Amino acid sequence: MTNVLFVCLGNICRSPMAEAIFKDLVAKAGLQDQIQVDSCATSSEEEGHQPHPGARKVMAAHGLDYSYMHSRPITRQDFDWADYIITMDSQNMFNLNQMAPPEDRPKIHLCLDILPDKRGQEIPDPWYTHRFEYTYQVLQSALPAWLDKIKAH
Ligand code: 4NP
Repeated sequence: MTNVLFVCLGNICRSPMAEAIFKDLVAKAGLQDQIQVDSCATSSEEEGHQPHPGARKVMAAHGLDYSYMHSRPITRQDFDWADYIITMDSQNMFNLNQMAPPEDRPKIHLCLDILPDKRGQEIPDPWYTHRFEYTYQVLQSALPAWLDKIKAH
């Protein structure tokens, strides 16, 4: 079993969309029994909340299920559980590297680092841009490469 955890600041915009997209990719590849997917927040600001209405609208438009999702902050057990911790921006990277037990720090990655021509770039935060569909498209451009990498291991 490989466990993949998507993390952003609030767990209501970017990481829920990443979780839904990646679960769909895993299901389409028939790998549900081998890859588990979850998401969480670096902050407890939005704890208990459903995804943002803009994220819900985009996920619904793409046929993705978000009905079970509620924001939650990352815990010590998440660092242990996850094999891949995929983050959206450099602030997430900084915060998680501060929080993570040292042995779990190598699990923490920046989402767009998987694409050679997008290394070091951030997933735009629709909380600020209001461009939920664009963020969905950027995630959709990167996540198949993460599945390829995980399958290769
Ligand atoms: P997310 O977006 O990290 O992609 O879920 C945000 C959600 C909430 C806040 C900022 C970004 N906030 O400041 O509460």
